[in-house]
Amino acid sequence: MLIHNFLKKAQKEQWAIGQFNVSNLEAFKGIVQAAAKLKSPVIIGTSENESRFLGLKQAVLLTRAFQEEFQLPLFLNLDHGRSFEYIEKAVKAGYSCVHFDGSALPLKKNIAVTKKIAAFCQRKKVLIEGEINFIKGSSEILRRGPEIKEEELTKPADALKFVEETGIDSLAVNIGTFHGMTAAKKNPEIYLQRLAEIREKIKNKAFLVLHGGSGTPERDIKKAIKLGIVKININTELRAAYTKALKKELGRKAGEIVPYKYLPTAVSAVQLVVEEKIKLFASQNRS
Ligand code: G3H
Ligand code: ZN
Repeated sequence: MLIHNFLKKAQKEQWAIGQFNVSNLEAFKGIVQAAAKLKSPVIIGTSENESRFLGLKQAVLLTRAFQEEFQLPLFLNLDHGRSFEYIEKAVKAGYSCVHFDGSALPLKKNIAVTKKIAAFCQRKKVLIEGEINFIKGSSEILRRGPEIKEEELTKPADALKFVEETGIDSLAVNIGTFHGMTAAKKNPEIYLQRLAEIREKIKNKAFLVLHGGSGTPERDIKKAIKLGIVKININTELRAAYTKALKKELGRKAGEIVPYKYLPTAVSAVQLVVEEKIKLFASQNRS
């Protein structure tokens, strides 16, 4: 089944597909094992930098290999693609979805570039996600979250204009989340009222995407799904779990130099986070 059909199903049944970011094989394994265990569709995400490290072709072939082995609906998304050139490379390599992030551009320019990329992706039958209203932060543990002012959030009328003029399949909106999380995992609440207004305006004309999922309060995630969010991106929580588990293991086994002996703990740590998210997003038993 195409990713479009899963997102439609999620929209109808009020659940969400997780996009989990990776830059190496261990995290990939952790995500896939969680998805297989809970029978959930998942999207593997790689940012431009993550895909440069892992390799675009390698990410595609790993996705295919895991799909075949586990018989799972696994999709691969280029996350926060910044240029037509890089998106073209990802599509050529075999990515099934791409996200063009023109949110730092003025709206008019963002619409023009996104429209061109959307037309290209649709010719190639690749799902295209666009974004308006820049989402601050970066996928790391932050000392303090960035300040988000209400005027920086996505306005419903802009969301509709953007969707209609670009022809995108999915829209990433700014409803108060940011990339990264504080050590205390206390990210601010989502502006749920704004989300409800955006959904009311764009109806089912595009799939709504939530970025900056790490650290977002669980009750807000649940409400956001009820209000129409069908894809949620998670990166920082996976990076944190992976790194913490690995450091601990290397500390415990100081003399160990065999990667396949000290890396499984990092795989399990990622798997655990993904399992929790799959349950939170209610995407289990939907594959
Ligand atoms: O595009 C990736 C996500 O928006 C990840 O955000 O690092 O806060 O989970 P996060
Ligand atoms: Zn993001």
